[in-house]
Parts: sequence; structure tokens; C-alpha cells
Amino acid sequence: YSLKKLNTFGIDVRASFYVRIDSIADLQKALEKDWELPLMILGGGSNMLLTHNLERVVLHICIKGIEQLKLAEDKVQLRVAAGENWHELVLYCLEKGYGGLENLSLIPGNVGTAPIQNIGAYGVELRDVFLGCQVVSIKEGSSEYMDKAACQFGYRDSVFKRELKGKVIITSIDIELTTRDHFIKTTYGDIASRLKEAGIEKPSISDVSEAVIAIRQAKLPDPAQIGNSGSFFKNPELPRDQFDRLQQRFPDIPHYPAPSGRIKVPAGWLIDQCGLKGFRRGDAGVHQKQALVLVNYGEANGKEILNLAKHVQEEVMIRFGIQLTPEVNIL
Ligand code: EPU
Repeated sequence: YSLKKLNTFGIDVRASFYVRIDSIADLQKALEKDWELPLMILGGGSNMLLTHNLERVVLHICIKGIEQLKLAEDKVQLRVAAGENWHELVLYCLEKGYGGLENLSLIPGNVGTAPIQNIGAYGVELRDVFLGCQVVSIKEGSSEYMDKAACQFGYRDSVFKRELKGKVIITSIDIELTTRDHFIKTTYGDIASRLKEAGIEKPSISDVSEAVIAIRQAKLPDPAQIGNSGSFFKNPELPRDQFDRLQQRFPDIPHYPAPSGRIKVPAGWLIDQCGLKGFRRGDAGVHQKQALVLVNYGEANGKEILNLAKHVQEEVMIRFGIQLTPEVNIL
């Protein structure tokens, strides 16, 4: 079964078996079977690099539904099924006038995989609106609720990448949004300047979403046109003294304080400084407008993308002495 259309990198690898999952009952039934092959859980396929054919059973989580759990005076709680497309959820909320997701507009992928890496953009992360999620245990088939604390969210990180990796499948998430007096966050990057240019003084949640969409479209390739998985690496967080030494050598290095007390530097800048922006080897390339994004111009296979990623890591190591860690899952 070809997975080419099911991963945003557009890599053509095959899986031994494919099972479409439309409900928790489907999922439990599939988990009960004795497959004799390892399972692979697939959502929107937007954060993975497939490097070889998979001797695995792919469970494609397509469970749909948005349910209103609670509507209070100024807040609403929603339960959203794992197979809903993330950006369509954002649009649904904007239409209803629910605030909280606007900065997370246009992120590729599905709702059920959003908690795994605690998706984030333009100063907002999933954890800011997250209440909890329903998960099914792969071993037992039982369904249970995990609250926000249990998910142990961090920067592009959660318990689902660590202790619970390969152990549970997220089937829905609960989020809390505002219905009025929205808290608008425009401090990150170009959002404020873009709104100002447009002459918008008191931005609505839709104005913020439109600004984010414009910024993303200007910088990030659309996976429907050029295969990619968004940022390929995480932004490294450096200890203070290492950063100070680096800043002496590169006075204009961009940086942000990280909650850990460390200093976060943009990997895209590091890669760019190595002269690699727009670098291309066959159909594998470093995106021309955002060096943190690796792209598949058409026929690149996963190994070629992986080799390019290694080359990028080596160059950054030589120039800056920093080891970049992939953000995408490499299979
Ligand atoms: N930069 C360069 N050259 C480049 C790319 C970036 O000099 O080729 C510089 C920029 O000028 C800027 C800084 O690096 O000063 C940061 O760039 P940007 O605002 O584009 O954000 P980022 O740190 O590269 C992160 C997320 C993105 C998210 C944006 C906006 C990670 C790994 N990536 O990128 O998330 O959209 O911030 O919040 O944290 C993703 O995870 O797939 C993703 C796209």
C-alpha cells in the first residue's frame, strides 16, 4: 500500500497493510487482531520522514467530529476527534468567533497528532488552550482520559514522544477557547508590523489569523505543491556561557530566552549562515525562503532527504559547534 499521498513530504514508500480507522470501535477491533507485524499509527503524516518500505500495519486515524462540551459566559470547551484536519478546526473556530487558535493557523496535520509535539507558532502553543485528551492503550485497547499535566508538554515535546511513545493512540482532544474578550497575541515576529501596515489598530481573531496565514505563505512551502514537513530541526537551546561565546563571534545572532533559563537560537539562521539556504542535491533541497525547512522537489526518496539533513547538521556543527536535533520523526 503506497503511503505517498499520506505523508506531506510526498515520499513513495509502501506499507505491508493499511487499515482506515473511523471510530474508537474500529480502533479497538484493529488492536485486538494478531497482526504479527508492528503497528504504525498515522495521522496527517505532516511530521515524518519515511526512509524505507515499512513491514508494518498502518492504522490511519480518520475519526471525525467536533462536539461542544460546555459553553460558559465567556468560554467554550470543545472535544475534537483526532482525524479532524488542524487548519479546518482553526477555520471552524474563527467562524464561530472562538478565540485561541488564530496564531496556529495553517499548520499542516491532524488534531490527534498536535499534542505529540505540542504544535506551536507565533508565540502560541497547543498547551495554551489544551485541557486533556482521550487515548486508547495499544496493549489493552482500553480508553482513558489524560489531563494536561499528564501530557508533560514542553517546547515541541510531550510525554507522547517519551514514556508513552508507541503505547497509546490519541483519539480526541479537549480544548478551551474564548467566546469574547479575546486575548490577542501579536508580539511574535512580523504579526504586529503586518497588522500595522494593513492599518488595523484593534485586530480581531480573524485579522490575526489572516496575518499569520500571509506570513506562513510567504515563507513556508505548501506541502500540496512542494513536499515538506515544516521545520525539520528544533531550535537549539544553549547554556548561557556557550551562547555568550557564540555571540562574541557572531554579534547579530538572533536569540530568545527559553523557559529553562537557556537561550534559544533559530536553527534556520544557523543553516542560512552556512550558505545552505536554497541548496539542492537532486530533488532534495533546503527551502529558498526558510532554511529550517527541507523540501522534496518531486522524486526525492527518504534517504536522500536524510542525507541532506546530515549534511546540514555537519555544516552547522563545523561552523557553530552546535548539534541540530531533528524535529520530524524519522522512520
Ligand atoms: N532565519 C534566517 N534564515 C532563515 C530562516 C530563519 O535568518 O532561513 C531567522 C529569521 O530571520 C528570524 C529567526 O531566524 O530571525 C526565526 O525565524 P522564523 O520566525 O521563521 O521562525 P523559526 O524559529 O525558524 C519557528 C517554528 C515554526 C513556526 C515559527 C513561527 C520551530 C522548530 N519552528 O520557526 O514551526 O512556524 O517559529 O512561530 O520551533 C514547524 O514546527 O514545523 C514550524 C514551521
